Amino acid sequence: MTTTADGNAAADPGLQRHFDRRISAEQRIEPRDWMPDGYRATLVRQIAQHAHSEIIGMQPEGDWLTRAPSLRRKAILLAKVQDEAGHGLYLYAATETLGVDRADLTGRLISGRQKYSSIFNYPSRTFADVGVIGWLVDGAAICNQVPLCRSSYGPYARAMVRICKEESFHQRQGYELLLRMMAGTPEQRAMVQDATDRWWWPALMMFGPPDAESPNTQRSMAWRIKRHTNDELRQRFVDMTVPQAEKLGVTLPDPELRWNPERGHHDFGEPDWAEFRRVVSGQGPCNAERLRRRRAAHEKGAWVREAAAAYAARRQAERERTEAPA
Ligand SMILES: [Fe+2]
Ligand SMILES: [Fe+2]
Repeated sequence: MTTTADGNAAADPGLQRHFDRRISAEQRIEPRDWMPDGYRATLVRQIAQHAHSEIIGMQPEGDWLTRAPSLRRKAILLAKVQDEAGHGLYLYAATETLGVDRADLTGRLISGRQKYSSIFNYPSRTFADVGVIGWLVDGAAICNQVPLCRSSYGPYARAMVRICKEESFHQRQGYELLLRMMAGTPEQRAMVQDATDRWWWPALMMFGPPDAESPNTQRSMAWRIKRHTNDELRQRFVDMTVPQAEKLGVTLPDPELRWNPERGHHDFGEPDWAEFRRVVSGQGPCNAERLRRRRAAHEKGAWVREAAAAYAARRQAERERTEAPA
């Protein structure tokens, strides 16, 4: 067997051709199909990071569950946070179709070897943050994720269809909360503006570094895992959000933000990429806290996993006993 420079077994040229043809014909790749090692590794990394983000993303809003201002707001928030747990679950299941183990991925997350979205390392200071997270963070997630419904890997694309439907509920519940607050007292309006000021730039960073600094983008696009570059998606998000901010009556904290009639898009300022790199490398305001809590929850859940495994083993033994020929 020959090996390539990166140590992988060289692909059978016939299999590689078949794979390439399927990709360019916009056909889905399924778990049983042959795929290049790099394609599999890219998917595992991307889907695992996505799954981790859903799970860690439960924390900033989960912090407000016990302090929601009404039963109605509590029920909405509870449903939303539970949805995020479900998203994590679908996505971990999608990674398992690629031959990795969920327990191993969780180990990588809690030991800090695998990343999650930088956005969840910012604190949620007031209840207005719950609304702004729904509006901007789930809004940015929708921009990122709608094109992933057409991703070339079948299980990922199918998981994204359902996730996107739920994300759109998340975005609306956030926006509806903000509309209510903006119709309230001057203090409530000030809370919404303050939360918008704090979350705007981190939301823009959710699309990842500028295209020139994102070396994997072209390969992911050639494989039709990604459909648009980071900068394209960021632009789409800004164009979508500006009219929503106007309707809401808040100011987006960017003096360079303005409509550019020649481009047919909004111009906007540059996010602080040094801050982005700091947060991604673990130095954000809540990185340590997020991982500490995730680790503690995992340890506290050990007895559930043990009980489930013991139950499964007993069921298996019972099945073998009853199916054994007399
Ligand atoms: Fe989600
Ligand atoms: Fe969401």
